Amino acid sequence: MADFVHLSAAGVSLVLDFRGPSLPAVVHWGEALGDLGPEELAELALATEPQPIGFSADTPVRVSILPEQSAGWLGHPGLAGHRDGTAWSSAFTVRGVDRSALGVRVRGFDETAGLELVIEIELHPAGVLRARARLTSTAPGTYWLDHLTLFLPVPAETTELLDFTGHHLRERSPQRTAFTHGLRVRENRTGRTGYDSPYLLCAGTAGFGNRHGRVWGVHTAFSGNSRTVAERNYHGHSALGGGELLLPGEIGLREGGSYTTPWVFAAFGAHGLDSVSERFHSYMRSRPGHPTRPRPVVVNTWEAVYFDHDLGRLTELAKAAATVGAERFVLDDGWFGSRRDDTSGLGDWTVSPDVWPDGLDPLIGVVRDLGMAFGLWVEPEMINPDSDLARAHPDWIMAAGDRLPPTARSQQVLDLHNPSAYGYVRDRLDALLSEHDIGYLKWDHNRDLVDAGHPASGRAGVHDQTHAVYRLLDELRARHPGVEIESCSSGGGRVDLEILARTDRIWASDCIDAHERVAIQRWTSLLVPLELIGSHVGAPRSHTTHRELPLDMRAGTAIWGHLGIEWDLTRATPGELARLGEWVALYKEVRSLLHTGTLVHGDVADPAYSLTGVVSESDALFAVTATATSEAYPPGAVALPGLDPARLYHVRPQPPGDVPDGNAAAWGAALPWCTPAGLRLTGRALGTAGLRLPVLYPDRVLLIRVTPTGEPT
Ligand code: DGJ
Repeated sequence: MADFVHLSAAGVSLVLDFRGPSLPAVVHWGEALGDLGPEELAELALATEPQPIGFSADTPVRVSILPEQSAGWLGHPGLAGHRDGTAWSSAFTVRGVDRSALGVRVRGFDETAGLELVIEIELHPAGVLRARARLTSTAPGTYWLDHLTLFLPVPAETTELLDFTGHHLRERSPQRTAFTHGLRVRENRTGRTGYDSPYLLCAGTAGFGNRHGRVWGVHTAFSGNSRTVAERNYHGHSALGGGELLLPGEIGLREGGSYTTPWVFAAFGAHGLDSVSERFHSYMRSRPGHPTRPRPVVVNTWEAVYFDHDLGRLTELAKAAATVGAERFVLDDGWFGSRRDDTSGLGDWTVSPDVWPDGLDPLIGVVRDLGMAFGLWVEPEMINPDSDLARAHPDWIMAAGDRLPPTARSQQVLDLHNPSAYGYVRDRLDALLSEHDIGYLKWDHNRDLVDAGHPASGRAGVHDQTHAVYRLLDELRARHPGVEIESCSSGGGRVDLEILARTDRIWASDCIDAHERVAIQRWTSLLVPLELIGSHVGAPRSHTTHRELPLDMRAGTAIWGHLGIEWDLTRATPGELARLGEWVALYKEVRSLLHTGTLVHGDVADPAYSLTGVVSESDALFAVTATATSEAYPPGAVALPGLDPARLYHVRPQPPGDVPDGNAAAWGAALPWCTPAGLRLTGRALGTAGLRLPVLYPDRVLLIRVTPTGEPT
């Protein structure tokens, strides 16, 4: 076994120290260290070895990927559990280290505790790290697992933390705190990823921003309960970690039984948040199942008709959708059982003869004849007490004992760990997909898991439920490989990299007010590339905020994702339909750029403005968005990031919406560069001196097209 393992990819290094018999210490995670031989790695370990001081342990303490108290670590332990009060502290000895395609597999044993541990660590070509562990009980009796959390150290220079909170209609809202001594624990007990998930917990150098500062980020890829932590102690140790949050008694390992943690993802960026995002986006895009076909323009019926399902009305909507260039038509909630509102019918996954007397095929026929694909909404994990399913199988409802959990949105959770309930849902979905020409499922999940136990035993069941959902998705995808699936959870309540391992896009939020969406989409795209983020053009007056916004702002914001329309187009004016058609045409023109290029953000000093762009070798598109009045009047210039300094670019406003909508006409004159002819300037000048921002009314967007005009010099 080598003393050190040095993994390196795309400017990132991870150095693990295997010299002790215990689990490997992480000597370095961050910027690439170049080629280092065995002696140099030993010198690196020596250079960074802490001084043993402070009355805890005489041996120097380092952060291990699974920190143990037996190695002197007095912070949040990597493993907590016990055998009836014994085996509460582990001391694993490494017995084997195998190189895998992308990293290492470490096997450790603790004979006293009767535990075997296998840790997998991978460094992907994009520089994204991921790690997970499998714990197996090797002794008689039961080992009760409290948690298994994997850690990575971060340097002392990380003085600020960024993570996320949120609620329905305001997902992934950023919050910054100082990274001080102590433990910051972000617990999620909602049984789904959560609106307020920490998402990507980042530690960075003082004042880190979109394009500056060094940033280390960790994401716990799990769609059930989770725990993501940042810890700094007075011994100079700082670390980020993640794992599943287990409810009492959820995991009891009998001899031979195993538990596997979620993948914990981590990325380092030397140049601000954009450099972290770039790694995650290229990791996501390298996955074998990543969508590669052009992301079709969606029309979703929810905010257009809600529960008012009527073939005539929906036919008119489908025709209007096709006129503006839509390519996929998704029938939302309300098509099944007694589901005429949100109080009943969940679980009865058969087409309602009340609203669809001839079934769904007449509508599907209309949609297909108009050249669009057909998609259908489902919420497979849920059950309304007022449903035939609940009346037939009250024992399939998750409960912590003989009481039922409080309802939420009038619904309960179906216990998918129960093979009969699982088989029923799988077969109903399988039948729908087999019997109808359905190319897309919008898979919803509209409540937290409260008091969610297995009804027969009363035992906590969130862990089992989460894995049952993964199994269900995997099984359906294997049976229907051509069907795309969207992960929706009352908007963006289930956005994580494990659900995205088996779904093709996420619904970012039920709030499609473009003003709010600027922030929601910016922060969702910190981790997830634009092609996987559903973003829709809503009605002129937002249904969730009652803010009224012009179409150019609504559409000019929605194209920064996977575009859709969620608006009763039968009520739109001919002028609105024509303008929407222009935006759809632009989206189709630029979607390959938006969905394969590099996402960049300006560090704009004025909080009223944001600058988002996507840059490729041959093209770039930027959006300057104002969400308030500017501090300066006119506002200053902003650097256009991501361009090749050596190339000359043609810069001009991009129609439609190319005329800055501000009060220049009444109070001043047009912005000099902002004409159809635009200007020609090098990437170096645009990326340093920058481009003067236009005066915009609040809630307006200006698109800027930037294309190289010659070969690099
Ligand atoms: C919540 C989703 O986020 C909405 O888009 C819609 O599908 C409703 N559920 C339907 O009940």
